[in-house]
Amino acid sequence: MPSRRRSGTVRAVGLGTLDSLGKGLALVGDYELLDSGNGAKLERFGKIVLARPCAQALWQPQRPNLWERATATFDREGGLNWHGREALPRSWVAEINGIRMKLSTTDFGHLGVFPETRGLWDWITQTLHEARTKGPGGPQSPRPLSVLNLFAYSGGATLAAALAGCEVCHLDASRGMVDWAKENAALNGLTEAPIRWIVDDVSKFLGREAARGHKYDAIMLDPPSFGRGKKGELYKIENDLMATLAACKTLLSDHPVFLLLTSHTPGLTPRVLQNLLAQLQGDQGHLECGEMLLTGAASVMELPNGTWARWVAPPATA
Ligand SMILES: C[S@@+](CC[C@H](N)C(=O)[O-])C[C@H]1O[C@@H](n2cnc3c(N)ncnc32)[C@H](O)[C@@H]1O
Repeated sequence: MPSRRRSGTVRAVGLGTLDSLGKGLALVGDYELLDSGNGAKLERFGKIVLARPCAQALWQPQRPNLWERATATFDREGGLNWHGREALPRSWVAEINGIRMKLSTTDFGHLGVFPETRGLWDWITQTLHEARTKGPGGPQSPRPLSVLNLFAYSGGATLAAALAGCEVCHLDASRGMVDWAKENAALNGLTEAPIRWIVDDVSKFLGREAARGHKYDAIMLDPPSFGRGKKGELYKIENDLMATLAACKTLLSDHPVFLLLTSHTPGLTPRVLQNLLAQLQGDQGHLECGEMLLTGAASVMELPNGTWARWVAPPATA
């Protein structure tokens, strides 16, 4: 595995000490789910503890006493409301599964990271690293790989691929999010990495890439339920996903490694995503699917938050 990964140490900047979290918290890296229940989740990002809504957390909290330690809370009662936001720094950095991410609260209650994707980051780095070094050239002559990340947001998956030594094309319709992802690349010492940063609408870009004959060895996409392209183009997952996937298929190289699809759209269960990929890929390789999970200490109940499916090619042979 690449040596860039650092062990999870508390690295949040801008606040004082961890004392405000009180005793009794065994810190697990820079991110952990602390508890969930009553329609909410309690998470720690470095030194900062946030309580935010989570519709599927229908159960009772396991650790009710912890919730009063939240540095800030967000709710959607009669609007979008942060409480205690003034206690937070404008931005801070947390190292999540070895990748440093700039975090900042948005008016929608987001932070610039979906921590449920972090297990997939590990898989992305490992799978691409193996594809590069276990191919016919071996570690002495690693195979160059080109990766496309669509709806790439703040770039966690992009950086996971770059850490495996791949060339990455990172695309998002929002210039602000692409700039944020570039900041994350810099935080990880990847400013000079071969990452192509594109601000564009996914559908238009895919059409242009097909016309240019560009190919990719791995493609990752995290389509929103509803989104807007660079010039306001409407993206609705139920109308547009099949066409997006078909376009992705035409961009896969002759020796592809994988296609990874993630979603937070209600109803798009793991098997729904897998069925979509099955129709696309035919008999070659294999399919896997699962739930994305927010996780913390072993005693904390895992919280499903989104789904994934992937098509993985058969290993390359000499
Ligand atoms: C990461 S995705 C979805 C995240 C999560 N799965 C969800 O549903 O909330 C969100 C990203 O897609 C981008 N996006 C939305 N519509 C787009 C489009 N038509 N073309 C390119 N990017 C788009 C947004 O700017 C945003 O950064």
